[in-house]
Amino acid sequence: MRDVDGRTRVCSLIGNPVEHTLSPLIHNTLAEYTEKNLIYVPFSVEADRLEAAVRGAYALHILGLNVTVPYKSAVIPYLEEVDELAKQIGAVNTLVRCEGGYKGYNTDMTGLKRAMESDGIYLEGESVILLGAGGAARAVAFLCAHAGAEKVWMLNRTLERADRVAEEVNSVFGRDCVTPLLLTDYDKIPKGKYVAVQGTSVGLHPDVEAAVVTDSAFYEKVHTGYDLVYKPGDTKFMQLVRAGGGRAFNGLKMLAWQGILAYELWNDIVVTKEQAQNIIEKLREKTKVYE
Ligand code: ATR
Repeated sequence: MRDVDGRTRVCSLIGNPVEHTLSPLIHNTLAEYTEKNLIYVPFSVEADRLEAAVRGAYALHILGLNVTVPYKSAVIPYLEEVDELAKQIGAVNTLVRCEGGYKGYNTDMTGLKRAMESDGIYLEGESVILLGAGGAARAVAFLCAHAGAEKVWMLNRTLERADRVAEEVNSVFGRDCVTPLLLTDYDKIPKGKYVAVQGTSVGLHPDVEAAVVTDSAFYEKVHTGYDLVYKPGDTKFMQLVRAGGGRAFNGLKMLAWQGILAYELWNDIVVTKEQAQNIIEKLREKTKVYE
């Protein structure tokens, strides 16, 4: 821990609960690597004190904040500005100090994009299979459309939910990008090789033997699979992707990159590749207990 003095800048996390967050590890380590006089502290905030927390943070000259569950959408009315992608998604996880308050960003999604790019996957022109239609998968659908993906096949157990997301995304972007499908209709996806994103809660610790689709015929269509889950580090979905000949990644890199991108926004600097790799390693070490 660096010495705290009169010049120390503070960044923080607001949410409820915040006890299990890995963000202090990311940001306090980055402060050390980049030699910034900065500390990162999580704050648990009650729902009826959210506005007071944001205004108070501004008054206290807090440099930047992360926002976590359950306030990623609820905080938006208290912001001065919202970045375009975050506005489309309707959720922010990063607040950057600006004139009069904070500007909201969604580095969860730009972090996923960045993690993919570090593996050589570029969403522009890609065809994507997206498993799930909940909050996380919905955000991924917006990211894909925003980043210029050609097509997103959104598979969900409850078709109506995928229908709604598809309608929403397609109307915002004015093109027929997302096609909803019932989960069991995965064989209707045209032959080819796809990037697949696992955005359901199936396979999460401790239910580690479960995957939302288990048929090997499905996995033959996947050249690269991303699981948003990182506990466990090697999910059943990832194992099935590899068995089908594809590459598979968990959500740890996305977690690292959402933090790194927030840190870059707050400090107006670029984190080096080596520093980013060290952060990913530290997170892997910290979450190993779940494997
Ligand atoms: P989050 O905000 O993390 O995305 P969520 O909104 O509760 O969480 O969404 C959970 C996702 O996992 C949904 O796509 C859900 O499918 P339904 O919309 O049909 O509920 C999916 N999911 C959860 N349990 C599932 C299961 N046992 N089989 C298939 N899909 C499941």
